[in-house]
Amino acid sequence: MLPAHLPTPTLYSSGAGEPSLRWGIVGPGWIAGEFAKALQAHTDQKLVAVSSRSPETGAAFAAAHGIARVHGSVDALVNDPEVDVVYVATTPTSHLEIGLAAIAAGKHVLIEKPFTVSAAEAHQLTDAARRANVLAMEAMWSRYLPQTSVIQQLLHDGVLGDVRQVLADHGQAIAAGPEHRLFRPELGGGALLDLGIYPVQFSSMVLGAPTTVFAAGEMTATGVDAASTVVLTHAGGAQSTLHSSIIARTPMAGVIAGTDATISLDGPFYNPTTFTLMGADFFSTPLTWSDPTDVRGFAGLSWEANALARFVGEGRLESPVHTHDETISILTTIDQARAQVAQR
Ligand SMILES: NC(=O)c1ccc[n+]([C@@H]2O[C@H](COP(=O)([O-])OP(=O)(O)OC[C@H]3O[C@@H](n4cnc5c(N)ncnc54)[C@H](OP(=O)(O)O)[C@@H]3O)[C@@H](O)[C@H]2O)c1
Repeated sequence: MLPAHLPTPTLYSSGAGEPSLRWGIVGPGWIAGEFAKALQAHTDQKLVAVSSRSPETGAAFAAAHGIARVHGSVDALVNDPEVDVVYVATTPTSHLEIGLAAIAAGKHVLIEKPFTVSAAEAHQLTDAARRANVLAMEAMWSRYLPQTSVIQQLLHDGVLGDVRQVLADHGQAIAAGPEHRLFRPELGGGALLDLGIYPVQFSSMVLGAPTTVFAAGEMTATGVDAASTVVLTHAGGAQSTLHSSIIARTPMAGVIAGTDATISLDGPFYNPTTFTLMGADFFSTPLTWSDPTDVRGFAGLSWEANALARFVGEGRLESPVHTHDETISILTTIDQARAQVAQR
């Protein structure tokens, strides 16, 4: 039996007593621009500084987003005494070094996904943050979206029965070609690390860490995984079937199938989206959830920023909904999947 109503979402709204932190951005690229807009439209957080390797890029970004200070190096930004938290929005292979520099300067860090390019690096970063008594959080924004809290409540209430299968895919056709960061191993490219991390974290949220990992796929001529399918098995025999690609667009859907009911998220499932809850009966009438807030698309990055500020206010050193252990576990799965795809 489906419930009469879907649960009310838990919102990481602004104005809930969280501190208004002073943010500095490293890496004024594409996602940093979306983050700056989201922060300014939907939070009480302050954007005070940016650093770029290029003075022109830094100045243009600062002008576009009304940011007072432009720094010419990571070092200068992380040591800016008027910055409380550093948002690391650079390409993945630089996350460890920049994250460590910010932590050494005593700053909280929000690090874009993938947190680092391996589980070993993630261990290094989380250990350093814990020792320095600062909060380190992966910018896994999907975890802070309203829809995720509703799904977690349905899982918690046992509405799906026994979850047997998670299906998720994230495929984009990156038109820019071999010069794009996603095709370059030295920048942390490849579908699994950058796009596949969303399906893997979705599976992790629902079924936890896998007991076995099987991956097969194809490599690009540049030496990164182009497309792959990963099959995970979990304690009790449940499975996850996860796909990622940088060479072909796929629906980007997410499905959680249980013995009593199934949740189907419309693509892109990791963005603010809609989902249906369908009973096991073939003719069941689905319940549809749609986001009741006016936060759409990449404005949804604001939820993670509000969440970080709330966690800092609570004196936390990690996110309670996406812990350091889980970040490391997800990267462990990706390490194994990438190695298998490269070997086959
Ligand atoms: N949450 C999401 O939905 C989402 C979406 C897209 C990307 N991302 C993630 O965000 C990160 C950046 O992706 P993007 O698409 O924004 O990339 P991008 O447009 O290429 O921007 C990355 C920026 O990082 C800086 N940078 C690159 N290498 C650096 C280094 N070694 N040291 C310091 N700065 C460096 C560059 O800025 P300067 O040249 O000005 O220094 C560059 O503009 C990736 O981890 C990606 O997975 C997340």
